[in-house]
Amino acid sequence: MKRMVSGIKPTGELTLGNYLGAIQNFVRFQDDYELFLFVADLHALTTPQNKTVLRKRIKDVVAMYLACGLNPNKVTLFVQSEIPAHSQMSYLFESHSYVGELSRMTQYKDKIAKNTNDSMHVSLFTYPVLMAADILLYDADFVPVGDDQKQHVELTRTIAERFNHRHGDFFVVPEPIIPPLGARIMDLQEPTKKMSKSDISDKGFILLMDDLARTKNKIKSAVTDSDTVVRYDVKNKPGIANLLTIYALLSDSSIEALERKYASQSYQAFKSDLADVVEQTLAPIQAKYKEIITSPLVDQVLDEGLAKASDIAYKKVRKANQLLGLGRKR
Ligand code: TYM
Repeated sequence: MKRMVSGIKPTGELTLGNYLGAIQNFVRFQDDYELFLFVADLHALTTPQNKTVLRKRIKDVVAMYLACGLNPNKVTLFVQSEIPAHSQMSYLFESHSYVGELSRMTQYKDKIAKNTNDSMHVSLFTYPVLMAADILLYDADFVPVGDDQKQHVELTRTIAERFNHRHGDFFVVPEPIIPPLGARIMDLQEPTKKMSKSDISDKGFILLMDDLARTKNKIKSAVTDSDTVVRYDVKNKPGIANLLTIYALLSDSSIEALERKYASQSYQAFKSDLADVVEQTLAPIQAKYKEIITSPLVDQVLDEGLAKASDIAYKKVRKANQLLGLGRKR
């Protein structure tokens, strides 16, 4: 069975973007791949965190993974920081990556463009190196992620190839898996911008735990255009294209079928139906989440995942140290 690795940062509540770009695909892949999924809590430290909130969010992510349909008997779930090999491997990779290539990372460039007071953490710069460690420690064949993480997975490939070239074939060179639809769910108010949990205005994103009545209103007040035709045209009708994408993914229908269905209907009717579809998706997830978060399941699953993942990761980093001539033992 081919192996997949992916993770989510616990830096806010999960959005519909996380669900459609990542979690929904993990659920689909779990039967056919060996899936390692983790909460990327070390990555959260790139910006200051309140420790009580962070600790709660780590478990929230796992409860949400389970509520969305991940089966703990099939997937390995764990917390990144509980496995020291992630930080250790990341350090080794800092000596296999170049300042130039990290400076070219789009997310990093966006962050420095916004940071005016020179107080950005070094970890925001080295972040993709840690991500490479997360992936390469487990010899992943594939990395299912949304579009915004593709560049980081490409850097991961470069690091793996460089390491293999210098020290002999040691890492599997992984491939990103970007969903053909839903890889970049857009902000409902500014549909040319990615839907993000770190947004200031909360009308642009839908949280998986949002109050359902509020969620429906957010869909109904989503920005569209002055045209009247429900048609998929990302360039000229980004708002409608985004809503069509969400609708198609949540209802398992094609964009074309939806365009036909709403050919002679108003935007209002289209949005109202989509609001119902979103509600029908989120209601059972929220109910399951509430059940799971108060049960011992999350800790049980994470303890089992830790045992399995740490064994693999520890062996890999120990071997990497040896290959580099570190320590005394061969
Ligand atoms: P994070 O926590 O920002 O996002 C988690 C996953 O959700 C996807 N995603 C989206 N997909 C579609 N539309 C959106 N609006 C949207 N917003 C988020 C992301 O692409 C991602 O797949 N660095 C990663 C976490 C990470 C990781 C890894 C992932 C750390 N190590 C190793 C894969 C492999 C991150 O910050 O994702």
